[in-house]
Amino acid sequence: MIFPFQKKKDAVAFDIGSSSIKLVQMSLSKKGWELQKMGFAELPPEAIVDGSIIDSMTVTSTLKDLIKEHNVKLKDTISSLTGHSVIIKKVSFPAMTEDELAESIQWEAEQYIPFPITDVNIDFQILGADTEGKGQMDVMLVAVKKDVINDYTNVIKEAGLNPVVMDVDSFALENMMEINYPVMPGENVAVINIGASITSISVIVAGMTVFTRSIPMGGNQFTEEIQRQMNVSFKDAEDMKIGAKTEGVDPAALRSAIESVSTNLSFEVKRSLDFFIGGAQGADINKIYLSGGGSRVAGLIEMMQDKTAMPVEAADSFKNIIANPKTFDPARLAELSQAFGVAIGLGTRRFADK
Ligand SMILES: Nc1ncnc2c1ncn2[C@@H]1O[C@H](COP(=O)(O)OP(=O)(O)OP(=O)(O)O)[C@@H](O)[C@H]1O
Ligand SMILES: [Mg+2]
Repeated sequence: MIFPFQKKKDAVAFDIGSSSIKLVQMSLSKKGWELQKMGFAELPPEAIVDGSIIDSMTVTSTLKDLIKEHNVKLKDTISSLTGHSVIIKKVSFPAMTEDELAESIQWEAEQYIPFPITDVNIDFQILGADTEGKGQMDVMLVAVKKDVINDYTNVIKEAGLNPVVMDVDSFALENMMEINYPVMPGENVAVINIGASITSISVIVAGMTVFTRSIPMGGNQFTEEIQRQMNVSFKDAEDMKIGAKTEGVDPAALRSAIESVSTNLSFEVKRSLDFFIGGAQGADINKIYLSGGGSRVAGLIEMMQDKTAMPVEAADSFKNIIANPKTFDPARLAELSQAFGVAIGLGTRRFADK
């Protein structure tokens, strides 16, 4: 949980990604989480670049269009950030209570943040006492650049909404996993969210995110490689990648372009996971779940499985979400189940009863 401006029960969630905005509104009953509203709107490639808003007018108007199209009445909004403006680090602090840490976090965190401490907002999650028992505790430290938070909260406000929570993608994904793929005791899973421009990697142990990494690579790299190798426009390359354009396309050449990026991405993921495994004695990864629209690219699951030698599965964000088939076309949900990983995680966020 990060940067709650004020806490209320009902809120609408927007995952403002670099290729599209995803909207969900959820409700919680005894039966579980139910999808109330769901929306998806593409953004032009230049509106958000590598997690930074370049064209705020377009982002605001896309938000407004989604609100109108889906008749969203709620104003309180949950959204999230990702990419290089977000720093998540596991650190060791002297054992203290959550309140004590909240008081001293600015001071304690300073040495771990590569930006001036006044330029970032800081939050943390206590992971529990460390195993060596030296009066220390493990803490997940989260720092996000204030100017990036401002850019995102501004487009949300400009759209007439009230930003109440700004989370980070990896914690939203932890939430999505908790609902759909509860982790068994002793089981470590990795969630790889492949967006258009950013791939974020997290390792979840006993329901808590203990390791994160982000790679400045995603679906765009596939499109750009197809564009380069097959000498076509970005738009045509994108259509070829998702299988929307097949006429006049040499399938072997397309496969080869996709495979070269899949290979690179899989090795990058393996490198990050090896780093986690090397740093945490005896730890292993039992399974990799793929999320994000970019994970739908043909053959990626097999490639990742091959290169990492770990079982890989696509995460279905709607697996344990109730959705009335009369309102939400099951085929459409299946199509968007990876791209909505972050949005579902944001929409199912529980609020502290403070
Ligand atoms: N069927 C498909 N096959 C291959 N790629 C796909 C498919 N559908 C969507 N994608 C790709 O998924 C990517 C978008 O995924 P997602 O919506 O998770 O990204 P985002 O949240 O907008 O971006 P980011 O998180 O990097 O800012 C795009 O590169 C798109 O081409
Ligand atoms: Mg995204």
